[in-house]
Amino acid sequence: MTNETNYGTIFGKMAIEQGLCTPAEVKRAVEELESRQKVNPIILKDLMVDLGYVTDSQAQRLCKTLRDSKSANYQIPGYKIIGMLGKGAMAIVYKARQLSLNREVAIKILPKKFMQNPEYVTRFYKEGQAAAKLNHNNIVQAYDVGEAGGYHYFVMEYVKGKTIYDDIAAGKVFSESQALEIVIQVARALNHAHGCGLIHRDVKPKNIMINSDSVVKLADMGLARETSDIEAAKTEAGKAYGTPYYIAPEQIRGEVDIDGRADIYGLGATFYHMVTGRVPFMDEDPSNVMRKHLKEPLIPPDHINSSLSAGVSEVIEIMMAKRKEDRYNDCEELLADLQALSAGQPPTRARQRIDVNMLEQLEEGDEILDDNPYYEEMQLNRYKTAVMVLGIVSGILLLGLIVVVLNS
Ligand SMILES: Nc1ncnc2c1ncn2[C@@H]1O[C@H](COP(=O)(O)OP(=O)(O)OP(=O)(O)O)[C@@H](O)[C@H]1O
Ligand SMILES: [Mg+2]
Repeated sequence: MTNETNYGTIFGKMAIEQGLCTPAEVKRAVEELESRQKVNPIILKDLMVDLGYVTDSQAQRLCKTLRDSKSANYQIPGYKIIGMLGKGAMAIVYKARQLSLNREVAIKILPKKFMQNPEYVTRFYKEGQAAAKLNHNNIVQAYDVGEAGGYHYFVMEYVKGKTIYDDIAAGKVFSESQALEIVIQVARALNHAHGCGLIHRDVKPKNIMINSDSVVKLADMGLARETSDIEAAKTEAGKAYGTPYYIAPEQIRGEVDIDGRADIYGLGATFYHMVTGRVPFMDEDPSNVMRKHLKEPLIPPDHINSSLSAGVSEVIEIMMAKRKEDRYNDCEELLADLQALSAGQPPTRARQRIDVNMLEQLEEGDEILDDNPYYEEMQLNRYKTAVMVLGIVSGILLLGLIVVVLNS
């Protein structure tokens, strides 16, 4: 699925996002649509109802949402809206033409219902201001931010292409070398952002785009803030904003001093998903996903996809270490290992860290066992066995007592 302003494509994309049908069903419907259209004009919405993938009322509701967003008559001086590109949790992104420079741009518009919430508006402006400070080929360039007709908007570089999420949703499992090529470019983007004092805080497949020249573009500096901005951090303290599948443990704990290593974790979780086809920690309930990020040991990626090299698995495990001290110190260190891997060499920094971490674990011994959820379960089982034995012994004693009393 490409990221075009195509009504059918967006219908399919939103049907998946709203959990109405599976990516495989949309894929099948799109293929079927192509063959059917040769005989009889039909649109994706009707075909999906025909195939029983969505009900008629679900389709009607989805169409209404789409129509409402499309027909919203945004008047932004200097720009002409062309069509809708996508819809996220907080905003709608449109393709538009910047009239003065005659170039295509993407405009993110905050829906009016969010305007009542000053926190959303603040976050929206922060995204623009943070992104405007950055200038890197692998970062979606920010052009303009403002307000018109009661709407707040953010103008940025238009990326003609798709997100990593689109590929994953279509069932793609990336090969090690394909994934490395993408992850290296994101690590370069992050290295630049971190060097400018900005942390992304929401690195995930939906925020990584690939344009038609295969250049990777990191989008959405929406949760970014200056590392020196302690006040902003304090207001955010206690709130975990990111998406639970890729969020770093320290963000879940609402820690104040979030640094670049949180982005390394998010990129590691994205890397994991790309090469295994699975998110690192899965659960229906988001709070359980977060608990697993904090506590549950990671299943090494090469245990899921045996075609992966031990090296790539080690790098991902270090990127996703629970304690930020056990991760790469920064993106430069990470890039050195990623580049070694793509040259077919071992990731020396990851190996050194694994050795040090193992030594530390041996020294800490019992402390590590205490932190291990399996250890907690073991303790619980021991406790249950003790209670059972005690129960049986007391039962026998009681029976004995009854027999003695009856005989006397
Ligand atoms: N600069 C851009 N050029 C082209 N398309 C874009 C651009 N930015 C965003 N999009 C499209 O718009 C969609 C919505 O983006 P948005 O950032 O609002 O949400 P998201 O990142 O997909 O999800 P969430 O709100 O859960 O973080 C994206 O998935 C992408 O398909
Ligand atoms: Mg986004």
